[in-house]
Amino acid sequence: MMRQLTFAMLLLGVIVSADAQTTLKSAFKDTFLVGAAMNRAQIFEEPGSGSAIIKEQFNSITPENILKWERVHPKPEEYDFAAADRFVEFGTKNKMFMVGHTLVWHNQTPKWVFEDEKGNPLTRDALLKRMRDHIHTVVGRYKGKINGWDVVNEALNEDGTLRQSKWMTIIGEDYIAQAFKFAHEADPKAELYYNDFSLENEAKRNGAIALLKKLKAQGVPVTAVGLQGHNDLEWPTVEQQDATIAAFRAIGLKVAITELDIDVLPRPPQQASGDAEVTRSMQATPQLNPYTNGLPDSVQQALAKRYADLFGIYYKYRGTVDRVTFWGVTDKESWKNNWPIRGRTNYPLLFDREGKPKAAFDSVIKTANRKSAHH
Ligand code: XIL
Repeated sequence: MMRQLTFAMLLLGVIVSADAQTTLKSAFKDTFLVGAAMNRAQIFEEPGSGSAIIKEQFNSITPENILKWERVHPKPEEYDFAAADRFVEFGTKNKMFMVGHTLVWHNQTPKWVFEDEKGNPLTRDALLKRMRDHIHTVVGRYKGKINGWDVVNEALNEDGTLRQSKWMTIIGEDYIAQAFKFAHEADPKAELYYNDFSLENEAKRNGAIALLKKLKAQGVPVTAVGLQGHNDLEWPTVEQQDATIAAFRAIGLKVAITELDIDVLPRPPQQASGDAEVTRSMQATPQLNPYTNGLPDSVQQALAKRYADLFGIYYKYRGTVDRVTFWGVTDKESWKNNWPIRGRTNYPLLFDREGKPKAAFDSVIKTANRKSAHH
């Protein structure tokens, strides 16, 4: 009896420690890519930045900011590729699937992009030319290296209509098709994505379906839709997540979860669920920042369960969902500490402020293990 018990405990020990060593990329190696957004310090592999965790755990990377227009193309005649080159070097060395974020967006794009030297609005043709030059220069430089691009980011309003951005008002609604066309010319082998937030909400999702169906019918080379996935503990429901992925699969698109995190803090009343409009900025109050001294265990467990529930849906749609990218690595550097309110203590990711895996990490890994046992 004693011996059997010892044997059983040994066996259990082996299983448990094997589990503890499992990485995200190995757990999901036959399911989908697992990615992380990299900030500048991580790209330059600064000590303590979390770049070691990225090498160990992830097989795909996206730059959090350094490929945005304002960073890579700050002035009309000036490109700055220093950080982007390092990003691509990091991905090449570590054999990672690289995603470029992002080519055409209304935020983090300088004002001059839409104006002539005198400050007057550009004509349609002049803006199209500027867009084409930018896309050819940036995508062309990393042709055959960066594997996929978020070509157009956040073109839709909550009600599913097209956002009246400068791109839209100056060029007209074909700016989206044009951006994809230019990206395809610049690297015919690259995957090309339409990326947006809160597509799980029905009105916006229907707008996206209509838009993407139309683009596909016109022969515009869209590979996949990117669901940003700036989630919280309640939104989106698993049913919403499921229906959203099913709807895009039904029109022949792949789906990537591109910016995953789960906000555990109280949502300010002015902010809608799933909203990720980066220009938003609200006032902090102690009630809206309750966990400055650590996350209560009940919330830690709720976060772990929430991650498991969402990964259950992603897994169900493996083959359609081909990548799940987290928007950051550890809670310390997550953008959610400063958005939509500056200076809060948030806990949205799988690694804590010391870089240690959280309960949510284990529950995500378990999803893969449990599921593949049935597979
Ligand atoms: C965020 C970055 O994480 C921040 O560092 C930056 O200050 C603002 O942008 N949707 C997107 C991302 O597509 O580019 C945004 O990233 C988050 C919302």
